[in-house]
Amino acid sequence: MQQELLIFSGRGNSKLSQDISDRLNIPLGDAIVNEYKDGETSVQLRSDVRGADVYIIQPTCAPVNQNLVELLIMLDAAKRASAKQITAVIPYYGYARQERKTAPREPISAKLVANLVTVAGANRILTIDLHAPAIEGFFDIPVDHLRAEPLLADRIRSLNLSNMVIVAPDEGAVDRAAKMGERLNAPLAILLKHRPRPDVAEVRGMVGEVRGCVAILLDDLISTGGTTIQAAEFLLRNGAKDVIAAATHPVFANIAWTRLAQSPISHVLVTDTIPLPKEALIDKVEVCSVAPLLAEAILRIHQHRSVSALFR
Ligand code: R5P
Repeated sequence: MQQELLIFSGRGNSKLSQDISDRLNIPLGDAIVNEYKDGETSVQLRSDVRGADVYIIQPTCAPVNQNLVELLIMLDAAKRASAKQITAVIPYYGYARQERKTAPREPISAKLVANLVTVAGANRILTIDLHAPAIEGFFDIPVDHLRAEPLLADRIRSLNLSNMVIVAPDEGAVDRAAKMGERLNAPLAILLKHRPRPDVAEVRGMVGEVRGCVAILLDDLISTGGTTIQAAEFLLRNGAKDVIAAATHPVFANIAWTRLAQSPISHVLVTDTIPLPKEALIDKVEVCSVAPLLAEAILRIHQHRSVSALFR
């Protein structure tokens, strides 16, 4: 007998959860998630989960610590209520930027969070564009790691741009940019980024040619916007005729949209792994939804069908 498929949503991205539920035509499970007066998270799953195949949707975006703890407590609730299988659907995996030690006495926060999610009760992870692919290996449970690149590529293709070059804003972005280049049949350029301190980016050089081209700057996330804006200014100084930024996760820390609005970037293409406030939806920001992708992945996991077919 196939187990019942149940979806619950934390408060991290209720709109995305609702869109996934609408695509699947399965109502969101009933859960009470709020705070005690002292700020602790309080959770009660009101739908019966015994023996069910449960999916808890929660990106660990801002407020990061609150969303993370909420996810952990929801997982614990499902585990203690005897769900048969529990998948943590984490469209944006926060705490991913400290995924290795670069100096003495640093933590590996991405591994700590992987441990927490597993101990809390997840049997499986479904996520999109981890900051570093190696994070997948921090889990000893199956990880279905989806890519937004096909979705972004389709949208870029529909813009009918001629003379495109795909630009990796730093070495961490090269693999993703190369794959996008193959999809769009466009050449690659790589920027040499330096971070003198956290959240400050400087571009020191470039491999490749952008003169006369529309540069598609591809990254996994835009946080303060520093990397993207510095890169765009550098590309334009080096002869690019236009710069379009594409990134999976609009972290948009520190009201980054105000800086993006003033920047020379003509178009910012992101997805809805992270919800954006209305003020962030400035004219040049366009959001592509990952709801169809996640809904299809959930269905395939539930039916024990291949998920990799989704990003071929
Ligand atoms: C860095 O390795 C990431 O891929 C992004 O480029 C970076 O985190 C973006 O941060 P910000 O927008 O603050 O420069």
